[in-house]
Amino acid sequence: MQDTEVPHESVTWHGKRDVRVDTVPDSIIHNPTDAIVRITTTAICGSDLHLYEVLGPFIEAGDILGHEPMGIVEEVGSEVTHIAAGDRVVIPFQIACGQCYMCDLGLHTQCETTQVRDQGMGAALFGYTKLYGEVPGGQAEYLRVPQAQFGPIKVPEGPPDERFVYLSDVLPTAWQAVEYAGVPDGGSVTVLGLGPIGQFSARIARHRGYRVIAVDLVPERLEMARRQGIEVLDTRDHDDIADAIRDMTGGRGTDSVIDAVGMEAHGSPASKFAQTLTGFLPDAIARRMMEKAGVDRLNALYLAIDIVRRGGTISLIGVYGGQADPMPMLTMFDKQIQLRMGQVNVKRWVDDIMPLLMDGDPLEVEGFATHKLPLEQAPHGYEIFQKKEDGAIKVLLQP
Ligand SMILES: NC(=O)c1ccc[n+]([C@@H]2O[C@H](COP(=O)([O-])OP(=O)(O)OC[C@H]3O[C@@H](n4cnc5c(N)ncnc54)[C@H](O)[C@@H]3O)[C@@H](O)[C@H]2O)c1
Ligand SMILES: [Zn+2]
Ligand SMILES: [Zn+2]
Repeated sequence: MQDTEVPHESVTWHGKRDVRVDTVPDSIIHNPTDAIVRITTTAICGSDLHLYEVLGPFIEAGDILGHEPMGIVEEVGSEVTHIAAGDRVVIPFQIACGQCYMCDLGLHTQCETTQVRDQGMGAALFGYTKLYGEVPGGQAEYLRVPQAQFGPIKVPEGPPDERFVYLSDVLPTAWQAVEYAGVPDGGSVTVLGLGPIGQFSARIARHRGYRVIAVDLVPERLEMARRQGIEVLDTRDHDDIADAIRDMTGGRGTDSVIDAVGMEAHGSPASKFAQTLTGFLPDAIARRMMEKAGVDRLNALYLAIDIVRRGGTISLIGVYGGQADPMPMLTMFDKQIQLRMGQVNVKRWVDDIMPLLMDGDPLEVEGFATHKLPLEQAPHGYEIFQKKEDGAIKVLLQP
């Protein structure tokens, strides 16, 4: 073990819609299960926008953001044996031990070694608030990776970073979204939201031979899916999207629905107000509002419940918080809806996905990113991604 500190640049949170690039001194090996990785590519995620917008009460000024990194191993602790200095690795966004009861079940998001018990939450995540352990994140030049005896995914030399970086989150998330959707063979699925998660959910579902109908309201996102041969609906063109989808499916709705929107759904002015408010309230009050009063926006989930055919399955992969919004229990019960949800168990799906990355890139991950920026331009990257400006769909940062 070594104790040299490497001062390096990191993207840090400073307040609502305020991220900066700071110099921080924090990438040394603390434990025999740690590794230090020099980051070569690191992405901004839709989940980072929750920090940018509504999760302020749970984050401290100066916290390092980011959970979609890859790079080159600099050094490893004594108990890390599956990777070595010089290896090219992708770092899953969740930190899991790989050997506890939950990890054995393939439920790495519930890892009993890293669960953030004082917050009542599951496995720790990189760069994701006190709720998830306040672990320094991966939008940085260097990253300390805890539980590195399990987490890092070794990838081959050759293809560019872009081919592999989405193994950290986006591809396993989309994969789990499709798995949890339980689409019958030859069946149909609606994908709500065409951010990166929705785009890849739609591509993976189509790759498996399902009929895919995708819904969003941002023209270039709809266009990107259309170019992939996916049927798309623009919410702005329809008074009632669920009716439109029933019309396309013999009056029934699709067998399954994937909600890849989450709590920042468009279309609910009341909760927009609450959301804006929590951005400016003192932390203690805002935190309680976020947890208890429900500033969440369930539009996309309500839509999913309406769209899915009777006896069908909803796969909820967009992130939700809060408790107060009423659920349409009568409809859910009467339609006999099955509902699955949760953070993705990244490593559970890596072996399924890897062949698709090695063999011809059928999901077309290369070329997916709309922006590649140096790390110093992270504030600009966050801004265009949040405002959906300049056609931003996925922003990669390259330290
Ligand atoms: N479960 C997990 O492990 C996991 C992992 C990664 C991301 N996520 C979550 O998945 C969600 C999507 O992530 P992303 O990176 O694709 O984000 P994103 O913000 O880029 O995409 C969301 C999309 O939903 C669209 N949208 C908004 N309201 C809509 C509505 N009413 N109907 C249809 N579309 C609507 C937006 O236009 C946008 O294109 C986020 O909530 C994110 O936090 C979950
Ligand atoms: Zn992410
Ligand atoms: Zn574990």
